[in-house]
Amino acid sequence: MIDILSCIKNILVDKTSIGKKIALNHWVKRGCPIPPPHVYKIQTIREYSKQYHSNYFVETGTFWGTTLKASLKYFRYLASVELSKELYHKAQIKFKHYKKVHLYNGDSAVALTDMLGDFVLSKNDSIGFSAKDFIIRIVM
Ligand SMILES: C[S@@+](CC[C@H](N)C(=O)[O-])C[C@H]1O[C@@H](n2cnc3c(N)ncnc32)[C@H](O)[C@@H]1O
Repeated sequence: MIDILSCIKNILVDKTSIGKKIALNHWVKRGCPIPPPHVYKIQTIREYSKQYHSNYFVETGTFWGTTLKASLKYFRYLASVELSKELYHKAQIKFKHYKKVHLYNGDSAVALTDMLGDFVLSKNDSIGFSAKDFIIRIVM
């Protein structure tokens, strides 16, 4: 019973626009503790993508791919690295139809070099890039 209630609560808080506003207000009232709610993270990513006209998103810590999925519409090229093999394989299944999503398994401290290298070599990209093209998320 408790599981069903908490499931319904999560759906209402995370998925509906009223739920998102409630989550945001609740977080602000509590003094904006870390980590911020998902809705705040996505708003920030969206604002940064607009502000810097960025097409490229690099994330450390894929986890369930929630932020990656929510960021799909803002970027042309998304890369995410996950330390856990299991979570990486789950993400591979989840994003198999998204050609613009590039997943890596390993420690971000090591994989970041490969990720940037692959991106530079990517034949899909013909316009080149500069450092400002990237939004790099730190594991939170
Ligand atoms: C809080 S979750 C990330 C949530 C996700 N970014 C999101 O917003 O939906 C942290 C994730 O980082 C992964 N992680 C921890 N250390 C890491 C590392 N050094 N390199 C890559 N991933 C790491 C963990 O396995 C976990 O899945």
